[in-house]
Order: sequence, then C-alpha cells, then structure tokens
Amino acid sequence: MIPGVKLVVLGKQGAGKGTQCMRLSHHYVVPHISTGDMFRAAIKSGSPLGRKARELIDAGELVSDDIVIAMVAERLNHNDTKSRGFVLDGYPRTVVQAQALADLLAPGDLDMVAELVVPTSLVLKRLAGRRVCEDCGHNYHVSAPPRVDWTCDICGGEVVQREDDTEAAIRRRLDLYEHETAPLVDWYRERGQLVQVSGVGNADAVTARLVKAIDSRPPFGRFRSSGKGKGQGKR
Ligand code: AP5
Ligand code: MG
Repeated sequence: MIPGVKLVVLGKQGAGKGTQCMRLSHHYVVPHISTGDMFRAAIKSGSPLGRKARELIDAGELVSDDIVIAMVAERLNHNDTKSRGFVLDGYPRTVVQAQALADLLAPGDLDMVAELVVPTSLVLKRLAGRRVCEDCGHNYHVSAPPRVDWTCDICGGEVVQREDDTEAAIRRRLDLYEHETAPLVDWYRERGQLVQVSGVGNADAVTARLVKAIDSRPPFGRFRSSGKGKGQGKR
C-alpha cells in the first residue's frame, strides 16, 4: 500500500506547485491544501475573508500572516488530514508561517519540504499562458487547453485567466517571493528538511522526480517508520 505523507511544496509563482500538488495528492491519497485556492474560493463566495483578501491578491500582495495561519490551522484540524497526511501548496510563505506550522505539528511530523526549482524566464512563460478552472482549480495552459471550449475536463467548470496573472501582479509576486519566501528555503535547509527538485521539463517528468525524492527520503517521518523516528526533530 502507498503510505501517506505530510509534505510542503515550495517554489516561485508558476513553478508548478498547484500542478504537482494535485498529482501528489492523488498519488499519496492525501488532501491537497492550497491557500491560494482557499482564498479564491472565499472571494468567489463573497465571504468576509474573501472581501478582505481580494484586493491584496489581485495586486499580487501577500495576505497577512495572522489570517493565513488561522485559516491553515483550522483546515489542518479537519479529519481528512489526520489519517494519512496532506500536501501543502503555497503555505508556508514566510518564516513566521513556517514557525507557526512547526508549532502546530509534532516535532519531526513533517516528512519533507520540496522546493521546485525553475528559472524565472520559464515561470514567466508559464504564467502568461496559464488558465484555471474557476470551480475545481485545475490548471491549464493556452498550449494545452481543455478538450472542449474552455470547459474543464475534470468538472465542467469555466476555465479562465486568473485575476492576478497580470504583468504587474506577476512582477510583484515574484519580488515578494525573493524577499519573503526565499528565506524559507534556508530556514528548512538548516533544519534538514529541504529537498530541491528541478521543476523543468514536462509535468509527468517533474512528478516522477518528486515521487522519487519523497519515496527515497530517510525513513524518518511517522508515516514510514511506525513511530520509531518520531520526535527526533532534525534529520
Ligand atoms: P497562489 O494561488 O498560491 O499563487 P502563486 O504563489 O502566485 O503560485 P501560482 O499558483 O501562480 O504558481 P504555481 O507554482 O501553483 O504554478 P501552476 O502549477 O499553476 O496564491 C495566490 C495569492 O494568494 C498570493 O499571491 C497571495 O496573495 C495569497 N496567498 C496564498 N497563500 C498565501 C500565504 N501562505 N501567505 C500569504 N498570502 C498568500 O503552473 C503555472 C502554469 O504552468 C500552468 O499553466 C500550468 O499548466 C503550467 N505548468 C505547470 N507545470 C508545468 C510543466 N512541468 N511544464 C509546462 N507547463 C507547466
Ligand atoms: Mg498555484
């Protein structure tokens, strides 16, 4: 049986986090938790959270740490994350968020933090052509559209361009990645949790690389070691 896993996937905007996390979620049979998708759902529903987040997201700014931390803590409390784990996409994004996640989980509970490494010139091409299903969040690209007239192959929802995929918002998001999120890479490296995986190449090749890295990680996480490695902190 394929074991469950608790994963964080990092990577700059357009690196393929959403694309790969959805695939990893199916492979390991764990929920895909994307803070970006959660905010977009809140915006669509017109909830107070959505109204608060909309302007920031459309401008490419980050939502404040306290809001995101509370939203993820509530989500990780759902039963579906308890039995087999989860794959976190777009969270944490600041060192403050990473510390909050570490405080929430038992020591050594996170199996791996994977950084998808992709050059900026390539992410710009990917984002310029990205299209997303409004309902299920499935990603497409103008070079690989859904089969029928911008209707999602998976759920039949409408496939559109994201509001924050404008040139100005993309530039701002990449700038914030350098200043706020890149320090996380060092934070996780210092804790022995980081594995860098190239996100270049077709999506199947990237998934195969990720699965290989995850499956060959040291037998530490609680889902692989029947509890023996639990609580050892650093790897
Ligand atoms: P979020 O939705 O997470 O956006 P993002 O970080 O800007 O990342 P993207 O979704 O743009 O890129 P991705 O890496 O998922 O790439 P994708 O797989 O789509 O967050 C949105 C906003 O919410 C943030 O800006 C912020 O305001 C707020 N927010 C979210 N989390 C937050 C947090 N923790 N703290 C504060 N604020 C937060 O791929 C891109 C394109 O490339 C697609 O078209 C895809 O089909 C294509 N593609 C993917 N892989 C490949 C491949 N291997 N080959 C060819 N094409 C590919
Ligand atoms: Mg995404």
